[in-house]
Amino acid sequence: MKLNIAVLPGDGVGPEVIAEAEKVLNSVVDRFGHKLDASIGLIGGSAIDETGTALPENTLSMCRSSDAVLFGAVGGPKWDSLSSDIRPEDGILTIRKELGLFANIRPVKAYNSLIHSSPLKEDRLLGVDMVIVRELTGGLYFAEPKKRWTDGAERQAVDTLLYSEKEIARILKVAFELASSRKLKVTSVDKFNVLETGRLWREIANEVGANYPDIELEHMLVDNAAMQLVRAPANFDVIVSENTFGDILSDEASVLTGSMGMLPSASLSGAISESATSSKASLYEPIHGSAPDIQGKGIANPIAAILSVAMMLRYSFDLKEEAEAIEMSVQEVLNSEYRTPDLATDKSLVVSTSEMGDKITDRINRPS
Ligand code: NAD
Ligand code: IPM
Ligand code: MN
Repeated sequence: MKLNIAVLPGDGVGPEVIAEAEKVLNSVVDRFGHKLDASIGLIGGSAIDETGTALPENTLSMCRSSDAVLFGAVGGPKWDSLSSDIRPEDGILTIRKELGLFANIRPVKAYNSLIHSSPLKEDRLLGVDMVIVRELTGGLYFAEPKKRWTDGAERQAVDTLLYSEKEIARILKVAFELASSRKLKVTSVDKFNVLETGRLWREIANEVGANYPDIELEHMLVDNAAMQLVRAPANFDVIVSENTFGDILSDEASVLTGSMGMLPSASLSGAISESATSSKASLYEPIHGSAPDIQGKGIANPIAAILSVAMMLRYSFDLKEEAEAIEMSVQEVLNSEYRTPDLATDKSLVVSTSEMGDKITDRINRPS
């Protein structure tokens, strides 16, 4: 098969982890006899530096004409001037909106070998295997009005939390479809007790849920959900939530796996089952950011980016065996105690970003 992908490394540790993800992708492509056509595009702060915009037109057109997009991260202190209205983050936000990528799938799996890398107690982590389904193109991130003004001498600002029935229903449907191939439970997270959008969300969750009688639908307020995620995380199967809540809960959930550097994601424009046949590109990215505090040190964990490649192979190309080859290699390398510093414990064999990429690639080239 020919894989036609756009690669957008971005800023900070983005290029560092994407280099390892590409290494792994190349080894899978070789082992299984596929062909790769990868175009590299500018995005984020590095694109601002070179072109004055966070998403140059040719990057967006490259994404549109690809089968899938592999993205690193954007942003960093260099571009964080509060007065600037050009922001690196707009690059990824515009791609999500323009490609209609409303469904962000963020699996959270606690590997047994990493249980001691998490600050949480072992008994809480056993059996943790959930997916956060985050709405990605609506809510506070995009709705208007979104602006700042001065009223007399006082500065004011507004963001708008707006959701339509259609936007809520389609993300709920993705969550139910996913739960039907998993543990048959959906936890819909909202702020129903305070927000009007929360009440609409809950109403529509019930309506969509009625079409899936075999799936248990649980509603949970977001503040309680944040607490339950660390108190009893193994109780969750599929969590579905609006854009901002999903963003926050997924960073929190990454702690269950030991590190922010472990969580991959897929951003899709429809149900998972439709991705491989869709004419539209999906996007794959680690959930973490550009990690400026560790940039350039060669210590970023590339596993989230590498597992994002596995999600890409499975969802965009229907290459299950290839995806499993990556996931198994990651697991074996972790079982052999190799760790980047974010995951390291006393027993670990500490490796750099590129050494971790090499270890995983070696296992793909020489499966046991
Ligand atoms: P961050 O995710 O970049 O980092 C949070 C913490 O996690 C840091 O201590 C960092 O060192 C650590 N971390 C993150 N990824 C890691 C990895 N792969 N290996 C080891 N440790 C890792 O979040 P932040 O510091 O709040 O944001 C930094 C910049 O990244 C900001 O400009 C923000 O806007 C941007 N950001 C971008 C994305 C994206 O492009 N998708 C996502 C989140 C944040
Ligand atoms: C993420 C990031 C982005 C978001 C930022 C960089 C716009 O935090 O992908 O989780 O908030 O969606
Ligand atoms: Mn985030």
